[in-house]
Amino acid sequence: MHASSSTSSSTSSTSGSYDVLVIGGGVVGLATAWRAAQRGLRTVVADPAPGSGASQVAAGMLAAAAELYYGEQRLLALNLASARRYPEFTAELEEASGQDTGYRACGTLAVALDSDDRAHLRELHTLQVECGLDAQWLSGRECRRLEPMLAPGVRGGVRVDGDHQTDPRRLVAALLTACERAGVAFRRAAAVRLLTAHDRATGAELSDGTRVSAWRTVLAAGSRSGSLAGVPEHVLPPVRPVKGQILRLRVPGAYAPFLSRTVRAVVRGGHVYLVPRENGELVVGATTEELGWDTTVTAGGVYELLRDAHELVPGITELPLVETRAGLRPGSPDNAPLLGPTALPGLLAATGHYRNGVLLAPLTGDVMAEALATGRLPEEARPFSPLRFSNALQELTV
Ligand code: GLY
Repeated sequence: MHASSSTSSSTSSTSGSYDVLVIGGGVVGLATAWRAAQRGLRTVVADPAPGSGASQVAAGMLAAAAELYYGEQRLLALNLASARRYPEFTAELEEASGQDTGYRACGTLAVALDSDDRAHLRELHTLQVECGLDAQWLSGRECRRLEPMLAPGVRGGVRVDGDHQTDPRRLVAALLTACERAGVAFRRAAAVRLLTAHDRATGAELSDGTRVSAWRTVLAAGSRSGSLAGVPEHVLPPVRPVKGQILRLRVPGAYAPFLSRTVRAVVRGGHVYLVPRENGELVVGATTEELGWDTTVTAGGVYELLRDAHELVPGITELPLVETRAGLRPGSPDNAPLLGPTALPGLLAATGHYRNGVLLAPLTGDVMAEALATGRLPEEARPFSPLRFSNALQELTV
C-alpha cells in the first residue's frame, strides 16, 4: 500500500479544516476528541454512527487486577493508571454532559469451581500479590457469604475491591453530549482513505465523497484501524478483530439483589463474567473468537456462556434473557494499545485496546490530548508507542 496524494480524486470536495480529525467515534475516539476540544483544538470526529460500535456490546468491567495475565505487567501499570482516573473522569463527564454513566465502585470476586480452576486462580492471586495489588484469597464459604447466589460447589476465590464497573452505553452517550457541548464537530460518514501530502497525513476522504483536512489525524477506528486505505504499510496498526459474544439478562425486582459485585471465573479454560448493574441489567460475557469480521451470534456461543454462568450462579436460568450481541475487540500482537504519533508525521494512533477499551478511555483521552496539543506523548504512554511495531516491521524488511 502506498500513501495517496490529497489531489488523487477530482470528484470530492474539501469541507473544513481542523486541528484534529479523529477517525472513529467509539469510546476511545470520543474521549480523545473531548479532551482535545477542551485544550482548545478545533476537533472533528468522522464516524457513520458515533458510539454504536464495540462499546454497545462491552460489559464495562474495569478489571485491571482480575484480568491480569503473566507477561502483561507493563500493561497493568497503564490499566491501573486509567482505573485511578475513573472516579474523577466520571464526575467531570457527568457534570459536562448532565448524564449519569453508571459508574459503580462495586468490586469483583473471581471464583473457582474445581481443583484445576482453583490452582489457576491461586497462581493469579500470587501474581496479583507480587504486583502489589490489593487482592484477598477467600474460602468457598467466604465467597458464598459475600454472594449467596453462588453455586454451593465454589472452591475458593479472590476478592478485588478495586476493580469497578461502568455502563459503556451510558458512557458513550455522555461522551457524545460532552463532545458536542465542547464544540467537537461530527461528520457522519466513514473515513475511506487517509490523505497525505509531502509525506505527511493531511486528513481523510469520507464515504460521502467529501474530504476533511486536519493538521493532525488520529486513527481510533477500533478493530477497523488496521485496514484504512492510504496508510503506508509500515505505519498501518497491526490490529485485528477478536469476536466477543455477550448476553444481557434482567433481574426482576423480586430477585434483587441478585449479585452485589462482578463475579467471574475461568471455567474449562474459558472466561465467564457476570456484571450486575444497579438498573437490574445483568451482563454475561464473553467469548473470545478469532473469526475475522464475523459478528454472528451463534447457538454455541450462547450455550457456552449460559452453561458456564449457570455453573457459577445456578439461579440465572430463572432470569429473562433480553439481548444477545457480538462485537469485535481491536486486538494487537501484544494485547496492548497503540498510543501516540506513528511513523507518518501528522498521523497518530489510539487503537488496539483489545480487552481494555472502556478501562483505558480516561487515560487515552488525556495522553492523546497532551500529544496533540504539545507534540509530546506523556511518559506513562511511551512504552505503548505505535513505533514498537513500525520499527520491527522495517527491521524485517531491510
Ligand atoms: N474485558 C472483557 C472482555 O474483553 O471480554
